[in-house]
Amino acid sequence: MTAANLGDGVSAADLGELAADIAREAGDLARRRRAEGVALAATKSTLADIVTDADREVEQLIRERLHRERPDDGFFGEESGAARGSSGLTWVVDPIDGTVNYAYGIATYSVSIAVVEGEPDPLSWQGVAAAVCAPALGELFTAARGEGAWLDGIRLSVTEGNPAGALLGTGFGYDPATHEGDLALVRRVMRMARDLRRMGSAAIDLSYVAAGRLDGFFERGLNPWDFAAGALIVEEAGGAVSRFDVDAPRPLLIAGGRRVHDRLRAIVEGDGSA
Ligand code: IPD
Repeated sequence: MTAANLGDGVSAADLGELAADIAREAGDLARRRRAEGVALAATKSTLADIVTDADREVEQLIRERLHRERPDDGFFGEESGAARGSSGLTWVVDPIDGTVNYAYGIATYSVSIAVVEGEPDPLSWQGVAAAVCAPALGELFTAARGEGAWLDGIRLSVTEGNPAGALLGTGFGYDPATHEGDLALVRRVMRMARDLRRMGSAAIDLSYVAAGRLDGFFERGLNPWDFAAGALIVEEAGGAVSRFDVDAPRPLLIAGGRRVHDRLRAIVEGDGSA
């Protein structure tokens, strides 16, 4: 479906502006709450998987604004769950991606907002527009389908790799039981890497791939709200994003410029020559 078919005269670029505006407002709130001190609200899947009061408050702000401005759209958020809409569009929201960084006072956290078209399922949905706001870094990454990806007015473009090897980002799940497997994957991927970064927010990792600050990214076990916005930002910056083992408990996502993406894919698919 093209931007012209989004309904009520709205374009992907319009939705991108709305996503950016809400992400900015939500990012300001997150940064203010961080300055006031962080209260842990709960743990989720494991002790290390936390949610702060700010996660909930920021998601509520985003959800209420979207409900006011786009009442027919669906919503799918990390903290407050899903609600189906009637417009065929769904907003996929991580109010604070990188909550552990946020709790520790590390600046690398973000508000991630995507709007997708189709069933609210990452296997079939199509990204329409996205915004990733990193308020403590003062950066806003945006994309709209067919319109490119942008960082504060500068058009983004993925790298084509580097003869010295790829600078790669990755992340690890919160469950210690998965660390061995994740480290085994790191060991295999390192043969194509010049070095590895672990930023702590998948939305920022993906935005950095789009900006050419990383050549590629891979992580197992991401949730849809962690990557919905970042994946569109990578694609609109000319990159490729793929998911593997989608029926397994921890699917693998890889992203990068086409060359780096394809080398990553060859490695994860077990081609020893890659
Ligand atoms: C987490 C971040 C982190 C990634 C974890 C995610 P959250 O999201 O994206 O970088 O390694 O897998 O769960 O829980 O902070 O929203």
